[in-house]
Order: sequence, then C-alpha cells, then structure tokens
Amino acid sequence: MGHSSHRIAIGIDIGGTGIKGASVDLDSGELISERIKIATPEGGHPDAIIEVVAEIVSRIGGPGADSAPLGVTFPAIIRDGHTMSAANVSREWIGLDARSLFGRALGREITFVNDADAAGFAESEFGAAKGRNGLSLVTTLGTGIGAGAIYNGVLIPNFELGHLEIDGHDAESRAAFSAKEREGLGWEEWAARLQRFYEVLEFLFSPDLLIVGGGVSKSHEHFLPLLRLDTPIVPAVHRNNAGILGAAAFAAGA
Ligand code: BGC
Repeated sequence: MGHSSHRIAIGIDIGGTGIKGASVDLDSGELISERIKIATPEGGHPDAIIEVVAEIVSRIGGPGADSAPLGVTFPAIIRDGHTMSAANVSREWIGLDARSLFGRALGREITFVNDADAAGFAESEFGAAKGRNGLSLVTTLGTGIGAGAIYNGVLIPNFELGHLEIDGHDAESRAAFSAKEREGLGWEEWAARLQRFYEVLEFLFSPDLLIVGGGVSKSHEHFLPLLRLDTPIVPAVHRNNAGILGAAAFAAGA
C-alpha cells in the first residue's frame, strides 16, 4: 500500500428517527463524502428500512465507494448477523437474519453491528477512549440507552446496560433522553436519574472511564457536572457521526 492511499469504508447508521450514511477515511476518522440522511420509515419494518439503506448506499459517491467495506448499525442485540431483540423498533426484526437480507438487497457483503457498539468503537478508534487501557463504558442517551464496552482497546459486544433493572424499572425507561422529554424533566431531575444509573454501573463494573454519547451529550455542561461519581465521566467526542464512523471502522476490521 502506497503512503498516499487511504483506507476507506462506508458506514450506515440506522436509528429510530433517521438513517444516515457516508464514506469514511479510516486513517483520519473523517467523513469524506456528503452525509446522506433519510427519515426512518414509519413502523420501522424490515423491507422498508432495507430499501432506504439501499438508496443511501447507491447515493454515496467518492473514491472506492463501490468496493469499500460496508458497515451497518442497528439498535438491537446483534448475534452473527441476526437481530435478536427489538426494544424501540418493529418486533418483526427479532430473530431475522438481517445481514443476509441486507447483503442480498445491496448485492454486497455487509458487517452488521449494534448501534452503541459502533459508537463505542468510534470512541475507541477516534475519540475519548482512544489509547485507553482498562474498561471504558460508552453509553448513548437517546430513545433508549445503548452501551459499548471497551476493555484494553477490544470491544465486548452487546452490553445491554440500558435494560438493567434498577429500582424495579428498565433503566432506559427512566434515564434515557426520551424519558426526560416524555416526562418534561428539568436537567436536575433527569440528572438524579442518571446519577442512579451511573452509580449502579460503577458498582457492578468498576469502569475506568465513562463516556456519554447521544445527541444530548452536546449539552453535557447541563448535566454531567451534577453527577457525583468516583469514575471520570466525559462527553463523547463523536455524536451525530459516531454510528457512521464506528460502523465503517468495524467493517474494515480497524
Ligand atoms: C437496545 C440496544 C440499543 C439501544 C440504543 C436499546 O433499547 O436494546 O440494543 O443499543 O437501545 O439504541
């Protein structure tokens, strides 16, 4: 490989409200194509989502886009390319061999990965967990709570920390950003719920670093300073593009 050839991969991030994708330079961790975003089809049914992903992939241009590794994120447990849960998406996904369905529709192989694992991998490769030893837990606060666990630079997949039962509740139903919005909580009220969530994580896993992602982490100064934890807790470096970056890096086996 010549010194000027950059490693390129495509990342597609499937979320509850939007599906977005771009081509990524894996050496710099930067997007090198326009970011294309299309609203997630109502109901989140598999066929409709696959169709949108195919459209986004066909619109991503740039050098080497046709043959680049392709990574796709999804907000569920992913085992061997199959979707095994559906907390905030259509139940039709449960048990589906999604990787094969996407592969057939797109005419190329894909790497299929949990959305928060992709965000965690992005932080590990290009963000707040880069070069860190020990256990970094990346949590994404959105519709649900996603989690990516990285130990000495290696991602441990499918940490479903948003579904820990805490004080008799599914954790994400109380502490996700969607709970703040749904219940009209102020920053302090919401921070009290985050406090409970993160102190349980601290007790159970003794992490070395907590990283907070999801769109709301751009407003981190409103809630992170309210938390009283022994573990350092920092905002994610990558927010809107974390899924794209992580999916691309994962697909390339970065
Ligand atoms: C899902 C996870 C996902 C998270 C964030 C949770 O409800 O169970 O798989 O990573 O939401 O989207």
